[in-house]
Amino acid sequence: MPLTVHGTDQLAIGKVLMDSKIKTLVKKLTLEEKVSLCSGSDFWHTKEIERLGIPSVMVSDGPSGLRKQDYEAGANSVNTSIKAVCFPTAVNLASSFDVDIVRTVGEAIGEECQAENVAAILGPGNNIKRSPLCGRNFEYYSEDPYLSGKIAAAFINGVQSKGVGTSLKHFCANNQEYRRNSYDSRIDERTLREIYLKSFEIAVKESKPWTVMCAYNLVNGVQMSENKRLLTDILRDEWGFDGLVMSDWGAVRNRVKGIAAGLDLEMPYSYGAYDKLVIDAVKNGELAESDLDRCVERVLDFVYRAIENHDDSVTWNKEEHHILTRDIANECIVLLKNEGKVLPIKNDEYVLFIGGFAKKPRFQGGGSSHINCASVDSIMMAMQWNSKLAYEEGFSASDDSCDPKKFDSAVKAAKNADKVVVFAGLPDLYECEGYDRDHIDLPKVQNDLIEAVTQVNSHVIVVLENGSPVAMPWVDKVEAILETYLCGEGVGVATARVLYGKCNPSGRLPETFPLRLEDNPSYIDFSGDCTQIDYREGIFTGYRYYTKKKMPVLFPFGYGLSYSTFSYGMMAVDADKMKDDETIEVTVDVINESNIPGKEVVQLYVEADIPNTKIRRAVRELKGFAKVYLEGHERKTVSFILDKSAFAYYDTEISDWYVEPGDYKVEICKDAETVVTYKTVNVVPKKPKKPKFNENSIYKDIMEIPAAAKIAKPYYDKYLFKDPDTASTDEVATEAFGSDPEVFLRDTTLRNVVNMSFGKVTYEDMQELISKINK
Ligand code: BGC
Repeated sequence: MPLTVHGTDQLAIGKVLMDSKIKTLVKKLTLEEKVSLCSGSDFWHTKEIERLGIPSVMVSDGPSGLRKQDYEAGANSVNTSIKAVCFPTAVNLASSFDVDIVRTVGEAIGEECQAENVAAILGPGNNIKRSPLCGRNFEYYSEDPYLSGKIAAAFINGVQSKGVGTSLKHFCANNQEYRRNSYDSRIDERTLREIYLKSFEIAVKESKPWTVMCAYNLVNGVQMSENKRLLTDILRDEWGFDGLVMSDWGAVRNRVKGIAAGLDLEMPYSYGAYDKLVIDAVKNGELAESDLDRCVERVLDFVYRAIENHDDSVTWNKEEHHILTRDIANECIVLLKNEGKVLPIKNDEYVLFIGGFAKKPRFQGGGSSHINCASVDSIMMAMQWNSKLAYEEGFSASDDSCDPKKFDSAVKAAKNADKVVVFAGLPDLYECEGYDRDHIDLPKVQNDLIEAVTQVNSHVIVVLENGSPVAMPWVDKVEAILETYLCGEGVGVATARVLYGKCNPSGRLPETFPLRLEDNPSYIDFSGDCTQIDYREGIFTGYRYYTKKKMPVLFPFGYGLSYSTFSYGMMAVDADKMKDDETIEVTVDVINESNIPGKEVVQLYVEADIPNTKIRRAVRELKGFAKVYLEGHERKTVSFILDKSAFAYYDTEISDWYVEPGDYKVEICKDAETVVTYKTVNVVPKKPKKPKFNENSIYKDIMEIPAAAKIAKPYYDKYLFKDPDTASTDEVATEAFGSDPEVFLRDTTLRNVVNMSFGKVTYEDMQELISKINK
C-alpha cells in the first residue's frame, strides 16, 4: 500500500516507519533467505520471498533510453528488448552544457521506466574519459569531473523525480574496456580524489542516486566489488550515500569479502554460486551477520522504495518522446568550423549529400545501452521536401570497405553542387562496449573521399557521427564541420535543422580533440595488454594536460561555434578576498552582437596564481558553466557562486581538501584555452595548515614562514660560524659558502646542519628547534 507522504516531516516519519518495517522483516528471515536476497533472481530482478510477502522489482539498462527485456520474445529474450526511444547518448548530453536539458531527458526516461514498471534504470555512466580510445566513451560524459558530475546529477534528479531509481555507474576508475573485469587501475590518492572520484562525489551529493553500481576492475590492488575503502568509507561515510550498491553484471569475485565491504546486491543471479560460501562464513564467524543484515536491509529498502513510488497510472507516449529526442539533439550538436559562413545552407542552394550515414545514421553505441528503437529519423527522410538535394552513397556506413564505383560517382557529382555535405562517422564495429579502439582514425575510404571532394568543390561541409574524438586530416580543406556525436533517434531532423539554419547550434565539446592520438596524456599507459594500468599522467587528464604543456590541439575542451556572435561585457566579483568557508558571487554580461537569436555557454575556470607554489596544479579548471539564450542584440547578466571547492586541491598530507592561501584568477572563457576576461580573488583557508617540520625540512621552507624563520635564525647562524664565541665570523662564512650563504643554505636540511657543523650544532639543538617551530 503506497504511503501518502507530503512535506519533509511526513517524509521523515515515512522513512522511520519503513526502517522499522524493514528491521522487523530482517529479523524474520532465515540465514539462507538473507543470503539469497543479496543476489538477483534472474538477469534483471531482485528476489521475491513469498513466505514474508517480500516482492521482487525489476531494473533495466539504459541510460540513453529504456532497454527493458522483452519477456514475450521467447527463448532468446535476454537479447531482445521492448521498443523504446533512443535519446542522445551521454557524450551528447554533456555537450549541451545545460543541466536543465539533461534533467528533461532524465524526466522522460523516468516516465518510461515508471510506465513500464522498472524500479531503476542502470545509469548514468559517470566515468572519466581518460583516453579517446575507450570503447564506451559515448556512454560517458566528459574528461572533466566537474562537468561529468553536474550532468550526471541533473540526469539522476530528472529520472528520480518520476519515482524511479538510477544506478550511478561504474564506480570507479573503469576507464577502458580491454580486460575490464580484471585490470587494476593504479591511481595516486590526489588524482583519485580530484579526477576519478570527483565526478561521482558531485553526483552523489547533488542527486542522491537510489543505487550505485560498482565497477568490474580493481582499484589500487582491490577488486571494486570488495573495495571497502571506496564502497563504504568514502561513498557512504564521507559522502553520505544512503542507497544500495549493486555489482556490475558479473563483477563479483569473492562474495564474502563483498558483503563485508558494503556490496549489497550481486547482479545478475549467479544461480547461488556463492550462497553456501556466505552461509558458511557467517556460521564460522568469518563474516559478521550484522554485515549481512546491513546488505539485506539496503536491498529491502530499495525494493520498498520502488514499490511505494510505483504509480500505475503513468503512461508514456513514444511519438512525443521521439519529437523530444530531436529537440534535445539540437541542444547538443557542436559546430566546430564554419568558414565563410558556409552554414547555414540556403533552401535554394543545390546541395549534394554524400555518405551511407545520410540514409543509415549512426546515432547510438553498441552494448548494454543499445536501444531497440521504434523509429529513427535519417536526414534523407527529413529532407524529402527539398527538391534541390541529390544523394550519392560514396561509402558504406556499415564498414570501411571501398567501392571505387561509388567513390568516383560521388566525386563526379560533387563538381556540380553549390555545396557538398559529407556524412562521415565511425561504423558500429569501430567503437562498442567490451573493447577499445586502437586508433582514432575514420575509415580510410571516408578520409580519402572527403579529400577528393575538396579537390573538386570548395564548399565542403563534414557532418560527423561518432562516439569519441576522431582525427581530421582534412580539417583545413573543408569549410564546415558539425560534430553530432551519437545524438539519438532524432538525428536526421536535428541535423537538418542545424544545416539549414532552423536551429542555431549551441553545443560545446566536453572533451579535447587531440591532433594525434599520441598527444593524449594517457597514451603510454593506456590499455595495451597490461593488467596493471598506471595512471601516470596523474591529475593532468584531458585539457589539464594540453594547457599545461601548451600543446596545440585540434579542438579544445569547451569549444563550439554558433551562428550568432557573442561578446562579453562587465565582469565583477562581490569581494576580492575571501576565507574558504565563505562564498563569492561572480557576474558577467554576455551580449549577442548579431541579430540571430542563439545560446552561449559561459564557462568559468579558476587558475591558481601563486608564485613559488609547491602544489602542482593544472593551468585552469572548470568550476562553473551556464547556458544562456539571447535574442538578437540582447545582453544578459550571468552569475555564479563560488565556494571552497572552486579553489581547493586534495592535500594528501592532511587527507582533506585544502585551499592554498594566495591569489586565484577567476576566468570567463570561451573554451579551456581562451580566456575572455578575469578577476583576481585572494583566498585564504579558515584553518591554515600547520607546517610540519622534521629533520629533512630545508632552510628555504623554514625561512618562508616568518615566525619559524625568526626562531631558526640562531641555529643557522651557529652553522655559519656567526655565534659570538667564534673568533672568525663573516670572513669564514664567505670563504666556506661562497659569496651568498643563502644560496648555499637553500636546500640544506636541519640534519645536514648537525652533520656538517663540526659539532657546533648538536642533535639536541635540532630537536629543540623542530619542537619550537612546529608550535
Ligand atoms: C555493463 C553495465 C550494464 C550491465 C547490464 C554490464 O556489462 O557494464 O553498464 O548496466 O551490463 O546490462
